[in-house]
Amino acid sequence: ALDTRTLRAKSGCITFDEGYGNTGSCQSDISFIDGEKGILRHRGYPIEQLAEHSSFLETAMLVIYGELPHEECLDAFRQHVRRNASIHTGMHHHFDGFPSDAHPMAILSAMLNSLGAYYPEMSSNNRDQDLAHFDETAALLISKVRTIAAMTFRMKMGLPFEYPDHKRRYTENFLHMMFSEPYGEYVDDHGAAEALDLFLMLHADHEQNCSTSTVRMVASGGANLFASVSAGVCALWGPSHGGANMAVIKMLEEIHQDGDDGTRFIEAAKKGEAKLMGFGHRVYKNYDPRAKILGKSAENMLQSMGMQDPLLDIAKRLEQAALEDDYFVSRKLYPNVDFYSGIILKAIGIPVEMFTVMFAIGRMPGWIANWKEIAENPKSRIHRPRQIYTGETQRDYVKLGDR
Ligand code: ACO
Repeated sequence: ALDTRTLRAKSGCITFDEGYGNTGSCQSDISFIDGEKGILRHRGYPIEQLAEHSSFLETAMLVIYGELPHEECLDAFRQHVRRNASIHTGMHHHFDGFPSDAHPMAILSAMLNSLGAYYPEMSSNNRDQDLAHFDETAALLISKVRTIAAMTFRMKMGLPFEYPDHKRRYTENFLHMMFSEPYGEYVDDHGAAEALDLFLMLHADHEQNCSTSTVRMVASGGANLFASVSAGVCALWGPSHGGANMAVIKMLEEIHQDGDDGTRFIEAAKKGEAKLMGFGHRVYKNYDPRAKILGKSAENMLQSMGMQDPLLDIAKRLEQAALEDDYFVSRKLYPNVDFYSGIILKAIGIPVEMFTVMFAIGRMPGWIANWKEIAENPKSRIHRPRQIYTGETQRDYVKLGDR
């Protein structure tokens, strides 16, 4: 039998798997998905149980550290997150440099990378040193990503920044930083903080999706956690990934404005003229379990607010129509996490442009956990896929005047 090193040296073959549909890029203990059965578990715990009993910060600890924390550990983590909510005033000035119509994801990625510059001891690109500060960095990022998001919103609205209030819990504090008026405190009178906590928790991790595998790719080269999660934000931005939550609301609004009940849109999607955003998934060939939970949560939230959103009715009709249509059934296309999440965010008052940023706040624990897995593994190698070259064969250089 040959050892791994000899096998690697001897191997001349390249596996071609467009889009990595069937390539395992790593071994991981964090999240498990069975796409055929619609199962998602973090560290072995089913997402349905976490949604019912846990909170975002507790699930973040589970995802990052591997176990449900004891009460004193959870309290200490919460304290750590609370104490880290403010950002260096030097960073406040960075916001002056962005145009007011800059996309919040561009700002978030730039600010997370810049944040590392304020903590050189935690962003040394020396694995041992970065790992020695890991607990501090993890709590700091989970806390400050939320502050940066709220400051981005305030900057774009032309409002003064609202400082964090350390007495408030994670999502309450975020809503305070977003929505408190200069002379009036934000009051959560319809369970927005709780709904937001569930939203964030359901986004905490999801195996080797595009942004998480980007984080791992960057981490594999030895880059620090700030740089790695900043790259994750860029990967999340696209409409086929985290940007889908914005695209879903835009699609539902367009359907509503056209006076369509969803039938015309479904027909257009079947002809390939449109895409049913929030539907389909590379791994789930069944219901995304997070979509089920969020669909119920969106309905409960609107009910408790005494609010009616025609977009929810359209979404439910679209879902029903798609589930009964052979085009979607034969391709195993079901609602994914983005299908109902925007309705919750919209009801809370978060503008559509910020939706993917909200996804990034939720996904931060997963990115951190995946970075840690790479950094702690002494055997981890730099990620370096091969390609199938399809360009010109060798040819001779032609001087400028002879072309
Ligand atoms: N609407 C209509 N048709 C669809 C949809 C959709 N949302 N998604 C896939 N299809 C069709 C494709 O056209 C293809 O049809 P064909 O076999 O006739 O060519 C078939 O279903 C298979 O689709 P693929 O594109 O091969 O699926 P892939 O795994 O590459 O893509 C993806 C998955 C990107 C999620 C895709 O389903 C999609 O674009 N969905 C809409 C965007 C979205 O909701 N993204 C969020 C994903 S979840 C997340 O990242 C958080």
